Amino acid sequence: MSSIPGNSSKEISSDKSLLRAAVGIDDMAVYIPSLYLPLTGEFSRQRDIDPEKLTRGIGVERMAVPDAHEDAATMAAMSLLELMRRCDLQPGDIGKIYLGTESAVDEAKAMGTYVIGMLERVYGSGSFQGCSTVEFKSACIGTTLALESISYWVAAGEDERIGVVIATDVARYPLHSPGEYTQGAGSVSLLVKRDPRIAALEQIYGCFTRDENDFFRPLGCATATVNGKHSNQCYLDAMQGAFASYAAQAAQKGLIAPKRGECTTDWIEHLLFHIPYPRMVEYASAAILRQDWRNSRHWKNVEAEIGVEPEPQNYADLEKYQVDLAGYARSFARSRYFQQAYNAKVKDSAALSRQVGNIYTGSIYLGLASLLELRKVQAKERLCFGAYGSGCSALVFSARAMPGISSVPSRGLFERLERRREISLQEYELLHEGEGKESLNRPSEEFVLARIDHQGYRHYEYVR
Ligand code: CAA
Repeated sequence: MSSIPGNSSKEISSDKSLLRAAVGIDDMAVYIPSLYLPLTGEFSRQRDIDPEKLTRGIGVERMAVPDAHEDAATMAAMSLLELMRRCDLQPGDIGKIYLGTESAVDEAKAMGTYVIGMLERVYGSGSFQGCSTVEFKSACIGTTLALESISYWVAAGEDERIGVVIATDVARYPLHSPGEYTQGAGSVSLLVKRDPRIAALEQIYGCFTRDENDFFRPLGCATATVNGKHSNQCYLDAMQGAFASYAAQAAQKGLIAPKRGECTTDWIEHLLFHIPYPRMVEYASAAILRQDWRNSRHWKNVEAEIGVEPEPQNYADLEKYQVDLAGYARSFARSRYFQQAYNAKVKDSAALSRQVGNIYTGSIYLGLASLLELRKVQAKERLCFGAYGSGCSALVFSARAMPGISSVPSRGLFERLERRREISLQEYELLHEGEGKESLNRPSEEFVLARIDHQGYRHYEYVR
């Protein structure tokens, strides 16, 4: 058995779960706007923030900014168009489009209908009329609930067509607020089918939900209200609850069968979390691994490095216990033993997010795109996803990489991000406040929001 915490002790030998769960992600496409604001330089100077705080403390370098002609619907249409072209799909091949967003452009009309309208400008009027679409709203977890739901429809096998799940969001906070440097924008489209090439879902979902005020956007507000530090804690509580539920179900169903001294994460090669900002993924991994390792062979290595974890029965004063426990959690997160596991199983999933920022409901799948672009996932490896949505809910589920994963072509995302146009702080602020009416990049081969008419209906076009 390996003593390196990042290495799985398992050669995942049984293919039972692969056979049982042959529905999953066959391919994916990512759209990121072609403008970006560097967070070091002018931004950090004007906001009086140490650039190291942003690049190390938060983990971001650049923020993707939608141009004047873009919104969540155009970005969704762009990622879907790319997916269809990559996979040579025709409209008639798609049975359902489930779209997750918290950047709705209408209170009633499903964003997917706007997306279909845009795609029909390319594929022909009426070409999507046999395809149903629905919008999933559940903050950043919406797309994951959409994926869970569509996977059951695909698995039922009563329709030969494939399903598409689209995540699309513009993460926007007030200027000068602590949320500002975590903003971003983008869309991810996932092709969900039987016998997928990338990853088969194992159909075990550990869930945690409770009513919270960590992050919300009341009707009519353009930016979110966020209780920052509280939102971090809600994320961690929900993730720990959902992971415990996932681990119990996976053990009960025999998907993961830890022997004496082993734990659930020994059976997982890649942990992917929702990425509001890259540093949060490190906090989440520390919380999950501390919970998972406590009763395993790993714990003696942890204790050898940072000492024994405080226990409540040894304290007369509850507050003192909580302070010491928080201190222990910080030492754990800085320990070499944890950092080794974090580097091996988690860190690479945040590579694209450092250059893009938060794309809310698509962030976790941007994490998957990072691993795919970096060619980090091998066939048969287990990916465990921890999705989080404010309000709040977490869903932990797993998928197994399929043999076809190496045949799926790269999307060239890192190179594409390098070709974006850098904008000034002033240009960014005008766009943010909705005052930048002219596009900074002249649209070409893309969907645009042409106008909003007197009734509020949005008119989109495809510019060749
Ligand atoms: N050099 C290096 N690091 C520095 C530094 C410097 N000069 N100055 C500060 N730091 C470090 C801090 O020590 C801290 O790291 P540790 O936790 O390891 O101590 C880190 O930078 C963050 O700094 P702060 O604690 O001062 O945090 P902040 O005031 O910048 O706020 C935030 C961070 C709460 C995330 C804020 O950006 C925010 O409100 N963001 C929006 C809400 C959000 O993203 N919440 C996440 C959970 S909710 C969710 O996931 C849903 C969603 O998508 C929104």
